[in-house]
Amino acid sequence: MEKIILDCDPGHDDAIAILLAAASPAIELLGITTVSGNHDVDHTTRNALATCAVYGIEVPVARGASRPVVADQVLAIEIHGETGLDGPVLPPATFDLDERHAVDLIVDTVMSHEPGTVTLVPVGPFTNIALAARKEPRIVDRVKGVVCMGGALTRGNITPAAEFNVYADPHAADIVLRADWEVTMFGLDLTHQAQATPELQERVRAVGGPVSTFVLDIWDFIDTTHGGLLQLAHPAIHDACCVAALIDPTIFATEKADVRVEVAGRWTTGMTVCNFERMGGMRHFGGTARDQVDFRHTVATEIDHDRFCDLIVDSVQRLTAGLG
Ligand code: BDR
Ligand code: CA
Repeated sequence: MEKIILDCDPGHDDAIAILLAAASPAIELLGITTVSGNHDVDHTTRNALATCAVYGIEVPVARGASRPVVADQVLAIEIHGETGLDGPVLPPATFDLDERHAVDLIVDTVMSHEPGTVTLVPVGPFTNIALAARKEPRIVDRVKGVVCMGGALTRGNITPAAEFNVYADPHAADIVLRADWEVTMFGLDLTHQAQATPELQERVRAVGGPVSTFVLDIWDFIDTTHGGLLQLAHPAIHDACCVAALIDPTIFATEKADVRVEVAGRWTTGMTVCNFERMGGMRHFGGTARDQVDFRHTVATEIDHDRFCDLIVDSVQRLTAGLG
């Protein structure tokens, strides 16, 4: 059983990440923490609670950072709509928000569990995770790892160089990638392979019921913005990849790498620079990182799309049957 804290900014694909975490018998969802990203933190928190209501789950949900560590705030309302989760009906919360700040929920939860048992899963800007590592540095040794959605190998989605989650708080991403823990990164080159094809949508439709409707409404809305603004054939289910990998790592091919973040590029702020061990690995990055190459991180490169889709359909079926 993988114990996880899902740090998110729901967000359409965030809601599908929550779906997999809520439904899987392989995952123990210790908490959901929210952050400013796709919308401000008030909206993402409300959307997290609404998503829990649809799925019929109750877990600690804590509101987190309302601003990036250093950078100016960037939101993605043009992708996710005026609510941050436009499309589906958003029901009222069925339980109260945790009273703690997200950073405290993360620190308390990691420190109160056995070392090496809790995985942090940031799928929004990494602000809360960076602040937690600064507030209680012992969490860096204590977690099992960090599995994140963020970054890109070839091309960004908010600038030519940068992916949204990293661009929205590059200094937080820099802290997370330089901390002495192992990060598994699901960047755009991978998550653009994780699309909600018409075949997947038909399989979810066949399940029927409110969870199926919620998921289909999510994809209906995001199809218009992903298709229009990002030129994807079908909605990308970015964030769910991280949870899928914790349920069944064999769905993904990965490579060891050293990954750095550009925090002050002229045109490249928020770019992730990946140095792959298999390709020989550059001996140094230059600048202050010279001669300190460390291939401890992992980058996901390929998905088994059929098995990823099976997992999504299975999750909708399980929650529909009340098995969350
Ligand atoms: C990431 O940015 C957000 O819009 C999505 O939820 C995902 O986490 C993709 O770049
Ligand atoms: Ca997200």
